[in-house]
Amino acid sequence: MEGEEREDALPSLFFIGGTIMLACHRLASQMKGKGMSSEVCCGGLNVEAAVRERYSAAAHQAEAALCCPVSYDRAFLEIIPPEILERDYGCGDPSKHVRAGETVLDLGSGGGKICYIAAQVVGATGRVIGVDCNDEMLALARKYQNAIGERLGFHNVEFRKGQIQDLQLDLDRFETLLAENPVRTSNDWLRASEHAHSLRQSAPLIADGTIDVVVSNCVLNLVRNGDRQQLFAELFRVLKPGGRAVISDIVSSADVPAELQANAKLWSGCISGAYREDRFLTAFESAGFHNIEVLERQAEPWTTVGPLEFRSLTVRAFKPPSAESRGATFVSLDVAPTAASGCCSPGSKCC
Ligand SMILES: C[S@@+](CC[C@H](N)C(=O)[O-])C[C@H]1O[C@@H](n2cnc3c(N)ncnc32)[C@H](O)[C@@H]1O
Repeated sequence: MEGEEREDALPSLFFIGGTIMLACHRLASQMKGKGMSSEVCCGGLNVEAAVRERYSAAAHQAEAALCCPVSYDRAFLEIIPPEILERDYGCGDPSKHVRAGETVLDLGSGGGKICYIAAQVVGATGRVIGVDCNDEMLALARKYQNAIGERLGFHNVEFRKGQIQDLQLDLDRFETLLAENPVRTSNDWLRASEHAHSLRQSAPLIADGTIDVVVSNCVLNLVRNGDRQQLFAELFRVLKPGGRAVISDIVSSADVPAELQANAKLWSGCISGAYREDRFLTAFESAGFHNIEVLERQAEPWTTVGPLEFRSLTVRAFKPPSAESRGATFVSLDVAPTAASGCCSPGSKCC
């Protein structure tokens, strides 16, 4: 996974388009030459605190530098209040790939825009669950939940508090338990850990095999390197057999050097934590996904830092219907490059 040299996995990738495979091989050899290592992470940076502070502020005040312009189907935006649309911190539109009647889970749902678009696509027979760990973002997303449901004529969206790398622990329930059992001593703390453990078993935030499609828009890169294997395992766990993940995220053209990873602003700004492009794809494979496909790839980088290019990628990957029925790991990556928008640059006011 992240931190491993996965060049050995590259020959198993076959892309009808061809370009990505060449790019992956080139990346792997560039990295060897530069001696960059993603084992070294973050130089003591508290990633979770940096991300929490940035997105708490961004829930109140739109921050243009945190987004990469995306064109959504305007028809779905009409019922979404400007307060949510202005706080769009996505880099793709995974909601384009959901279907009527499905149960959708949005990881890092932020202000709720993707959830409210997906709610319209899945319709009254479908369901959408947004998960975020930021109180301010959850408050923004929940603020219009009832009004939007009234306008739609059905209420099929809910927002739950949790960390996307631990989709078993329901943080709202855990907070209630903590309020009743405050932590003052180490024994209290041990009891709180036991409570968390039993909550995970008895009332998981997202139960095993219950989701048709997991989507996420520009969030996986914000998770600490050490939690990423668990993050992908959680994606896999919650999907029904045969279910799929459709993930838009920022990827980098080579490993991000340690000094950039220690920069709180660059990390929370979806830059320092970006997956190296080839590793993003192999992370799905390592978690057990198959038919891994790049649906969209920005031709021009969203931004560059020195020689490193950062761009948006949308990947679809399937959980096998059963353990025996695994097909090809990678399918056509005949990527239609996403036209680079003229306003797609940090600091632009377009989002
Ligand atoms: C870049 S914003 C994207 C928000 C939304 N997907 C959108 O398209 O506007 C990142 C969101 O992910 C949330 N987030 C970051 N790390 C998280 C984690 N480990 N678990 C849950 N949510 C997380 C942040 O609170 C924030 O709301």
